[in-house]
Amino acid sequence: MIVSLFHVNVPPERAQAFEASWSRRAGMVDQMPGFLGMDVLRDGGKPGHYIVLTRWEKREDFDRWANSPEFVAGHRRVNSGEDNGAAPVGIEFFEVVPSTPMSTGSGN
Ligand code: HEM
Repeated sequence: MIVSLFHVNVPPERAQAFEASWSRRAGMVDQMPGFLGMDVLRDGGKPGHYIVLTRWEKREDFDRWANSPEFVAGHRRVNSGEDNGAAPVGIEFFEVVPSTPMSTGSGN
């Protein structure tokens, strides 16, 4: 599994509108092969800083989406200027290291 972290800054006075836009997103990404889920993270220490976190089976799955008509359709409002002043900061990719708690089923 891989995680993509897309950092974006929004003017604090437009943060509420930015957050609201996620409650009516296109939902195109959800149909993409290899897509496992997403979260939008609000930075508690830095007003206006958000991370759009997406999880994918493979980096190739992310790349296919990022170059797809579904990506464009998912950003239609952004591209038409209804972007709440969101400014991209950068993008990071991480591979997920499996981590599983030790079994507690032995009774000891
Ligand atoms: C200029 C760059 C970008 C801006 C300003 C931006 C902003 C936004 C906003 C405001 C939405 C909310 C949906 C809406 O209002 O209709 C959205 C959707 C989304 N964005 Fe971005 N975004 C950018 C690039 C990216 C990149 C590079 C990624 C991934 C790494 C990404 C991931 C997503 C995802 C997963 C959605 C949901 C799409 C869906 O529901 O199909 N965005 N983006």
